[in-house]
Amino acid sequence: MGAGYETALPDSSRFCLALPFDSTASRPRIVVSAICHLHCETRTRNGVAGMVGSDDVWVRWLSTELAGEAETDGLADLLDAGERSRAARFRHDAARRAFVIGHALVRVGLAKLTGRSARSWEFRTGRHGRPEPILRRDEPLIRFSLSHSHDVVAVALSVEHDIGVDIERVDNRMHLPNDALAPGEKRYLAGLPKQRADAAFFHIWTLKEAYLKALGTGLSRPLASFEVSLSPMAITERNGFRAEGWFMGRFEPGRTHTGAIVMRHPDPDRVRFQVETVGLETLAKHR
Ligand SMILES: CC(C)(COP(=O)(O)OP(=O)(O)OC[C@H]1O[C@@H](n2cnc3c(N)ncnc32)[C@H](O)[C@@H]1OP(=O)(O)O)[C@@H](O)C(=O)NCCC(=O)NCCS
Repeated sequence: MGAGYETALPDSSRFCLALPFDSTASRPRIVVSAICHLHCETRTRNGVAGMVGSDDVWVRWLSTELAGEAETDGLADLLDAGERSRAARFRHDAARRAFVIGHALVRVGLAKLTGRSARSWEFRTGRHGRPEPILRRDEPLIRFSLSHSHDVVAVALSVEHDIGVDIERVDNRMHLPNDALAPGEKRYLAGLPKQRADAAFFHIWTLKEAYLKALGTGLSRPLASFEVSLSPMAITERNGFRAEGWFMGRFEPGRTHTGAIVMRHPDPDRVRFQVETVGLETLAKHR
């Protein structure tokens, strides 16, 4: 499937149709509810601000390319002292910009879901480095995941369920250690024509990283310790059993990148997946 379908909306945000992670299926199941979801007031059961419920995945992404120093410094005001000091340690401007904008995007997403200000959020870190928002007692269990790759950042938000997002720039395959792919993945890619193999590689790769983020282990767990297949889409665990209870989806944040979502869910067929492009001006409004 090529680039996501997009349509202009009045607030200048753009929405894409989000596709479940089965790139080779002959009739992909398109989740059309993504289009108007944010503008519907009605989802209230377990919902947050009428926008996201426990069956929803909400992905927001933006390109950092057009952000100048002034915009980036302005958005750094939204971050806390710890985030600002991490940002200051980046040697390259582009990496610093992606870090600042990514963290601002997380905060603004949390603010939109709860009505709490973007600046007010504090985070704790799980055993393997997964950041989690510190929630107030009356707030629903919001989870998020963040990914940056070159000049694109993406954040996925969910309620109640562990979530992982990963984006990568689709260019020459990265130089990967030989043991990064599971044997079945290597066999699958070796059997595809070059162009399809390259696209499938990035789908597998982003899905693997998104899964490890959803589990919270990150790369403390070897990437080759489980196997992803795209058709039919599935994750096979090291014990040889299929990992049940996971929603998987993919999206295309711009022409240069590809992204994957993995969310734990008791009934993955119920999950609705919406993808939104955010403009820098939307973030700046929260300063
Ligand atoms: C999480 C991980 C898979 C990220 O992969 P990546 O493609 O390099 O980077 P991405 O931009 O997609 O993701 C980075 C974000 O993942 C999140 N993250 C970090 N550890 C995570 C974990 N264990 N679980 C879920 N999310 C995690 C953070 O939000 C991080 O953003 P930040 O650094 O701006 O706070 C990988 O970097 C990792 O395992 N990191 C934790 C352990 C570590 O730092 N090891 C360093 C030596 S291997």
